[in-house]
Amino acid sequence: MSLSKITSHQDYIALVNELIEHDKHYYDEAKPVISDFAYDLKLRQLIEYEKAHPEYILPNSPSQRISESATEGFHQKEHLTPMMSLANTYSEGEIEDFIKRVHKGLEKKQVPFCCELKMDGTAISLLYRSGKLVHALTRGNGKVGDDVTANIKTIKSIPLELSGKEFPDLFEVRGEVFMSLAVFRAINEQREIEGLEPFANPRNAAAGSLKLLDSREVAKRKLNITCYAMGEGQSLEKTQHGTLQFLKKMGLPIAKPPYIARCERIEEIMHFAERIHEERESLPFEIDGIVIKVDDLKAQQMLGATGKTPRFAVAYKYAPEQVFTQILDITVQVGRSGVLTPVAELEPVFLAGSTIARATLHNQDEVTRKDIRKGDWVAIEKGGDVIPKVVMVDVAKREPHTKPWKMPSVCPACHTAVVHKEGEVAVRCPNPRCAGQRVRRLQYFASKHAMDIEHMGERVVEQLVDKGLVTRISDVYLLTEKELSLLEGFKEKSIHNLLESIEKSRNCPLSRFIMALGIKYVGTETADLLAEQAHDLDTLMQMTEEELLNIEGIGEKTAQAIVDHFRDPEHREEVELLIKHGVAPQKPKKQKILGHAFAGKTFVLTGALQNFSRDEAAHLIKERGGKTTGSVSKKTDFVLVGEDPGSKYEKAKELGVDILSEGQFQKML
Ligand code: IVH
Repeated sequence: MSLSKITSHQDYIALVNELIEHDKHYYDEAKPVISDFAYDLKLRQLIEYEKAHPEYILPNSPSQRISESATEGFHQKEHLTPMMSLANTYSEGEIEDFIKRVHKGLEKKQVPFCCELKMDGTAISLLYRSGKLVHALTRGNGKVGDDVTANIKTIKSIPLELSGKEFPDLFEVRGEVFMSLAVFRAINEQREIEGLEPFANPRNAAAGSLKLLDSREVAKRKLNITCYAMGEGQSLEKTQHGTLQFLKKMGLPIAKPPYIARCERIEEIMHFAERIHEERESLPFEIDGIVIKVDDLKAQQMLGATGKTPRFAVAYKYAPEQVFTQILDITVQVGRSGVLTPVAELEPVFLAGSTIARATLHNQDEVTRKDIRKGDWVAIEKGGDVIPKVVMVDVAKREPHTKPWKMPSVCPACHTAVVHKEGEVAVRCPNPRCAGQRVRRLQYFASKHAMDIEHMGERVVEQLVDKGLVTRISDVYLLTEKELSLLEGFKEKSIHNLLESIEKSRNCPLSRFIMALGIKYVGTETADLLAEQAHDLDTLMQMTEEELLNIEGIGEKTAQAIVDHFRDPEHREEVELLIKHGVAPQKPKKQKILGHAFAGKTFVLTGALQNFSRDEAAHLIKERGGKTTGSVSKKTDFVLVGEDPGSKYEKAKELGVDILSEGQFQKML
């Protein structure tokens, strides 16, 4: 395909309009009229012209969706009106109760509802001023969200400038950002090839993508959006249906019939819910239910809200999806601490957005209780979470002469006799040198929450251990190009990628290094606490149980486990070797701010803060050497008061405790 150069400004405007048209065909109608390749060429042509004439760039140019600069973190901004969430219902009876409450609240016997799909993605608020997209915020805590504007601009179906003229000067549009199943599958396939952890579901993929720092990467994730509301009290229309039509007129993507319906009676609502449920599997995106909203906007306002959920709408969530498939085999997986877990190897089936080939059977007790056997037909369920489970066995379909399953008497990885302590459910392999345990330990070590060695996925780890290239964790940092060339399918690029990600992990934050050590009961939160308090490894390794217990948030079991871990000479040696091989965990940056007015002070928080969540405020206080407690007493130094404070405020006044407004608090920070 040849590129004809743009020679005049008119050509440029024509190309902008042509590309906007193509975006419409692609995103609104799902009927592209040119190939992606041809589109990209045209876009490149456009960008070349814009680079030469930056003064002419039109604000609605499709190039403006790709931000060249990587943002550092995200700023937090306040929503014009709070973003609420929906209460859930799970049965016809609960929907009926909702309808009754609405009838009672409005003193009416008949109220029309607008039924919509509940898209399974992540909520977003778009702010338009004079028809131009000003910013896009995630829900955050409902009052304040992350500014993800640069990333949102990569979604081509979101207009940067609205069509038409009849819109309020300043208004918010609410919608759900989601990833289509086709894109989700393609991205996961690519991630597996690259040795990256696949996304658990399209919702996580969408939410994770919005939080990427490089919007060029976000553009590759091909996110999409459905808009479903305006900020409270901002719509000029009379009904929810009207608002959707209005949004459509402004060029915003909305759901269309048959995916929205006006219903009045419970029968109509249930009919809609059932019809959508039947269609659910063939939809090109995931939904987790339907939403039922009072159609009349005035009535919505009259009904108002309780806490964070409106009284005028509910979600009706579908029961988790189930499919039947056959258990081809029951294998046993060795965990990093030697626990043996039976796993059902399944005839692959597609369920709730992904293909399932394995399901955990937890332990012998669980298998015995459900009498799950090799060859059985079973129902698999994925209840919104990642790990699918076997919910029941179709005994009628069982072949004759099958036998109940029994845990093997030796470890499948190292053939050591297994041990089953009395009173414990778990069966363990007692051999600390077991290759199976090594694989799991290394996997854990390299995982995202630990050392985050990006290209060291499950298959790579298995080979590293099988081929004897890694016998102890610290060997990872001695791996050479030549050794990695022994791995299946490893060529120059994959070797380089892996070595680079190992290199990068050397300077990981101390908290993630602590996490990577795999100490019993130490998860991300505890690892953060330990890094913050101990500040370096030596100190941590020397800490006594008593000192550990002094850290708020660390209990007896964990303190004991930490001391036990570092008492083991092998564990100490491993840490020493890691450091010797060049791992240099970074001390937490945010040290306690010494000499701050908050140092040693006790705070109580009450009411809703505008600019911080409670956790954030507590964190900021802690960083400065203060602490927060739940109730006001004479020992309280400050009470930080937000909107609608509760009885704590009264108590503080009564006791004469210093009261800080959010503004004063910010100044003192
Ligand atoms: S209306 C007043 N309509 O479901 C609450 N929400 O907790 C406004 N969602 O993450 C929500 N599809 O983003 C509404 N058609 C729809 C929706 C929808 C998906 C999401 C929403 C939020 C959650 C509600």
